[in-house]
Amino acid sequence: MEASLKFHSLLSFALILALSTPRESASEYSFTTELVRIDTPNSSDPYQHVVNAFRRSISRAHRLSQNSAGTLAMPPGVLTNSDGSFTMNMSIGNPPAPFVGIADTGSDLIWTQCEPCLQCFDQASPVFDPSMSSTYEVIMCETPLCNALLPYSFCGPDLDLFCMNSNSYGDGSYTYGNIATENFILGYVSGQPVNAILLFECGHMNGGTFTKVTDGIIGLGGGPVSLVSQLSDDTGGRFSYCLVPLGSTTKTSKLNFGANAEVGGDGAVSTPLIQRDDQKTFYYLYLEAVSVDNRRIDFPPGGPSPDQGNIIIDSGTSLTLLPQDFYSQIEAAVIESVQLPRVNDPSQTLSLCFQVATEVNLPFLTFHFNGADVRLPALNAFVLIAQNVLCLTLGPSPTALYGNVAQTNFLVGHDIPNKIVSFKPVDCTLF
Ligand SMILES: *[C@@H]1O[C@H](CO)[C@@H](O)[C@H](O)[C@H]1NC(C)=O
Ligand SMILES: *[C@@H]1O[C@H](CO)[C@@H](O)[C@H](O)[C@H]1NC(C)=O
Repeated sequence: MEASLKFHSLLSFALILALSTPRESASEYSFTTELVRIDTPNSSDPYQHVVNAFRRSISRAHRLSQNSAGTLAMPPGVLTNSDGSFTMNMSIGNPPAPFVGIADTGSDLIWTQCEPCLQCFDQASPVFDPSMSSTYEVIMCETPLCNALLPYSFCGPDLDLFCMNSNSYGDGSYTYGNIATENFILGYVSGQPVNAILLFECGHMNGGTFTKVTDGIIGLGGGPVSLVSQLSDDTGGRFSYCLVPLGSTTKTSKLNFGANAEVGGDGAVSTPLIQRDDQKTFYYLYLEAVSVDNRRIDFPPGGPSPDQGNIIIDSGTSLTLLPQDFYSQIEAAVIESVQLPRVNDPSQTLSLCFQVATEVNLPFLTFHFNGADVRLPALNAFVLIAQNVLCLTLGPSPTALYGNVAQTNFLVGHDIPNKIVSFKPVDCTLF
């Protein structure tokens, strides 16, 4: 705890030093940007994107549960993977160059591939060349900013005296590069760019499972180097998102910062946001029970206490995952309620599927978070994974995760200083 506090205050101090140019006024830090789903429908196979999204979700859940259990020798919050669900566009440098990153609430660091590229994956935009940018500033080792990233930073053997960062991940993905600050354009308000100078990693060797649709990662976790934390002085530490349903092609999802991130009014409910001292990256909530129609099933006793939280809310995972015994009880209640013949998922991804012919009555699932009952429409809990095959979008996992299918068509707000997550049912395609 002492170490993490020290880490945070050093970083804040160092960030203030780094911000040599004045920032926009706070009101301009109320802005909205678009999130685009990585898995989009393919006209020749209308179900493939659903299967891909859930497969991705399972590999991500595996990684997050390893990290949250602390069993991997990887730095929490400074690691990442290519398995999120949404991309987000920003511009990097001066003159501004495009940067497409995976928007990831499960990691902190911002990084993109950079020239000179010793080893890079094929990416969405031209690789960023810092030598062409007038606003790029390297961070040297043994400076307050570099020390603030310890123990994950080190003095580079190749780029002597640069502050370096290296991560490798359970699935073989990795990034290696130097830490720098640069001007980013995060979005536009009335046609005017919203600028911010941000700490990021300029990755010179990157590989593994990254896909061509992205150039790197934009960490939106709760740790000190995330985009959310770096902007918090200006945004008040608030962000919200509104995710359109899986398969919605015409509309993009939205990510809001600052005053735009407000979630209130009719239908809004709130629950405490928990950041564990040793794991600031993850946003934990406390889930008391799940109801299938009116049948309430309590989270099994013996788990973490309400002040530690027992479920991570994550926008990068599609499925909602619950501990096996809890999941089994919910599954049994759904089977009892749905009354349709069961079939196996042809993609072998989801646990509970039914054969559907015509219109069916599906149960409502309600997630009873501490102080906030979130009632899910059928679209948030069931998905067609093949023709006439309808599956429950919940599954078993040692680490509980509240995923993005459950969160679609809700405005989901994170107010970090006030430690609150809010949910408000809305039609996200109208925004
Ligand atoms: C669409 O699906 C077809 C058939 O499965 C496949 O050959 C093709 O590569 C897919 N296209 C994309 C863009 O994924
Ligand atoms: C994001 O950038 C990519 C590549 O530059 C572009 O194709 C895409 O249309 C952009 N998306 C949005 C939502 O602006």
